[in-house]
Amino acid sequence: MNQIDFEKKIKFYKELIDKRIELISRGKKPSSLYRPIEFFLESSGKRIRPILMLLSAEACDERKALRIINQAIAIELLHNFTLIHDDIMDNAKLRHGKETLHRKYDVSTAILAGDNLLSMAYKSLTKNLYQNSLLVVNTFTDAVNIVCEGQSLDKEFENRIKVSRDEYFKMIRNKTASLISAACKIAALTIDASKDIVNSLKKFGMNLGTAFQIKDDLLDMTGQSVHFGKKLGSDLVEGKKTFLLISALNNAKDDDLKQLKQLIKNKGIKISEVKKYFNIYRRLGVVEEANKSIQLFTHKAINNLSIIKNSQAKSYLTRYALKLLERSS
Ligand code: IPE
Ligand code: IPE
Ligand code: MG
Ligand code: MG
Ligand code: MG
Repeated sequence: MNQIDFEKKIKFYKELIDKRIELISRGKKPSSLYRPIEFFLESSGKRIRPILMLLSAEACDERKALRIINQAIAIELLHNFTLIHDDIMDNAKLRHGKETLHRKYDVSTAILAGDNLLSMAYKSLTKNLYQNSLLVVNTFTDAVNIVCEGQSLDKEFENRIKVSRDEYFKMIRNKTASLISAACKIAALTIDASKDIVNSLKKFGMNLGTAFQIKDDLLDMTGQSVHFGKKLGSDLVEGKKTFLLISALNNAKDDDLKQLKQLIKNKGIKISEVKKYFNIYRRLGVVEEANKSIQLFTHKAINNLSIIKNSQAKSYLTRYALKLLERSS
C-alpha cells in the first residue's frame, strides 16, 4: 500500500472539512454568539469523526463518499458542542493549546455557543439527506442522549469511592464511543448500505471509540502539552475515574494504595502533586495496561470490518484506525 496516497487522502479530507467548518459561522450576527463559535471552531481539532465517516462511506461505495459531507460536518459540530460544555464541567483551562471558551469569554457565552452548535449540527445533518433520513436523525438524537448519560456518569464517578472496570467501560462507551459509533453508522445509512454493513460499522465505531477514550486518558499523563493542547494531569486534579486510576487501584499496595485512597477521599489532588501520582502510575504498570487495552479494542474494531469487501478505501479505513493508536494529540 502506498504511504503517500494514504496521507494525501487524509489531508484532502481534513482540508475539505476545515474549509466547510470555517465558512459555517462567517459574517453571522450577533457577533456575541458567532465570534466565540468561530474562535472555537477555527482551532486545531483533528476532525477524526468526519474523516472516519468519509472513509467509512468510501469503504462501502467508492463513488458515494462525498455525498455524506453535510452529515460529516454535522457530527463534527455536535462533537464541538460536547467539548465546549465538557470544558465547563471539567474546569478545563486549555483546549487546542488555547484558553477554553468559558475562560476566554464567560460561562454563559460558552453554554450558548454550545447550544447553538447543536442547532447548527441538526441543520447540517438534514441538508441533502435523501436516504434513510428518519433513521439518520434518530441515530444522531440517540447519540446526543447517550453522550449526556455518559457525561453524567463521568461526573457521578468523581464522587464515588469505588468504580468497577465494567462501570468505567460503560461510561466511556456512552460519553465517547457512542458518538464515533453513530458517526460511522450514519455514514453507512446515508449512502444506503446494507443492514449488515451498517451494523458492522456501528460496532467498528464503538470499539474504536473505546480505544480512543482510553488513549485520551493515557495522554493526560504521557502526552506533551504542545501536541495534546490540554493541561496534563487535569484528570488527576479533577479526581476523574480514568482507566489509569482504576488500574492503579487494582494493582496498588501499602503506601501507593494509601496515596490513591487519599486522592479519592479528597476527590482529586493539587497541581503540585501531579508528578508524584504519575510516578505511582508508572510504578504500577498502568501505562502498559492502558496500551494493551487500546491495542485490543483497536483490533476488535478492525475485525468488525471483515464483512466489507476488500478495497483500497477499506485498507485506508483500517490504516486510519491504526494511526489513531499512535496519536500524540
Ligand atoms: C476529545 O476528542 C474528547 C474525547 C472524546 C476524548 P478529540 O480528541 O477528537 O478532540 P479534537 O476535536 O481533536 O480536539
Ligand atoms: C470527553 O471526555 C467526553 C466528551 C467530550 C463528551 P474528556 O473530558 O476526557 O475529554 P477531554 O480530555 O476534556 O478532551
Ligand atoms: Mg474534559
Ligand atoms: Mg469530561
Ligand atoms: Mg480526557
